[in-house]
Amino acid sequence: MDVRVLDRTALILDIFAQHARTSEGRLQVELAQLEYRLPRLTRMWTHLSRQGVGGAGLRGPGETQLEVDRRESHRRITWIKQQLAEVHRHRQLYRDKRKQTRVPVVALVGYTNAGKSTLLNRLADSDVIARDELFATLDPTTRRVPLPGSQTILMTDTVGFINNLPTQLIAAFRATLEEVLEASLLVHVLDVTHPNAFQQAQTVHSIIEDLGADELPMITALNKVDRLGDHISPEQLKEDMGLSDNYVPISAHQGIGLDLLTGQIAEVLADQGAFVDLQVLVPYTEAQLVDLFHRRGHVEEASYREDGTLLTGRIPRNLAAYFEPYRTETSVRQSV
Ligand code: GTP
Repeated sequence: MDVRVLDRTALILDIFAQHARTSEGRLQVELAQLEYRLPRLTRMWTHLSRQGVGGAGLRGPGETQLEVDRRESHRRITWIKQQLAEVHRHRQLYRDKRKQTRVPVVALVGYTNAGKSTLLNRLADSDVIARDELFATLDPTTRRVPLPGSQTILMTDTVGFINNLPTQLIAAFRATLEEVLEASLLVHVLDVTHPNAFQQAQTVHSIIEDLGADELPMITALNKVDRLGDHISPEQLKEDMGLSDNYVPISAHQGIGLDLLTGQIAEVLADQGAFVDLQVLVPYTEAQLVDLFHRRGHVEEASYREDGTLLTGRIPRNLAAYFEPYRTETSVRQSV
């Protein structure tokens, strides 16, 4: 029929390629495309099935076009990975700096097209691209958002989640999604008018779990309520979506419920601001806890013992329970 035929992954990759704007986004998408295509490369140049081998003394038919393509792809993949490693190093430096300024970071997460960019625009009074398209946001965008009172936070928009995200993309966007891990709080934007809203919420929860960010506090913003009739109450929605955590009905587009949302963000952050001092001896089998301490807490001293890592520092109160089994004798003071 003379039309291109794509499978789901290739289609998603195509959309991503069209929407990537920053050089990092483009590199990530190209990497994902190359890795996806590599095992599927077929001979596209049947008329050139063998490259001629010139020169005396060379035997054999030479490289097939397929081998050339593979080699080129591998070379390009290696190059892209190097470039990305450099970008990630910069990003980490930037994140470390941001951490020092102690401005809390809130990450917007949600299924694609849920309204994350619209919300960020509203709250930050900015103009992040918001379109009725899947995956309009590929590169994390961070903006300053004022909270009630004089506090400000940094709010980061992330790539939209999707069910069964192709594995190449999970790997490619892992670094981007790492922004999520650095956040103090997640705001899950959910399009409650979508017929599959419940499944979308489940997908978002499971991706967050996969990322290892499920210990972060989360507020669910039930978005697009302007489209709902009066007959559905927020409590009903909450029940339908199987939510047990904090939730706020909003309309990012119409500006409904946004004060409530920022008020709730401020409250959760204030709660989180409470740190406990603690010393723990974490066995080497629990390396993820050491990682958690470094990411979310402030490590004052770390030393490596025969029986584990000895960490002294401060950790948000809501995370202290994870470290309970490994506390040393040193007393625990509470501080804010
Ligand atoms: P990705 O970039 O794909 O992750 O999407 P996103 O979650 O950033 O969604 P975006 O903000 O681009 O919004 C998607 C569409 O929903 C746009 O057409 C918005 O205008 C629309 N939208 C967002 N919020 C609301 C709302 O409160 N009410 C209504 N009716 N439409 C909304």
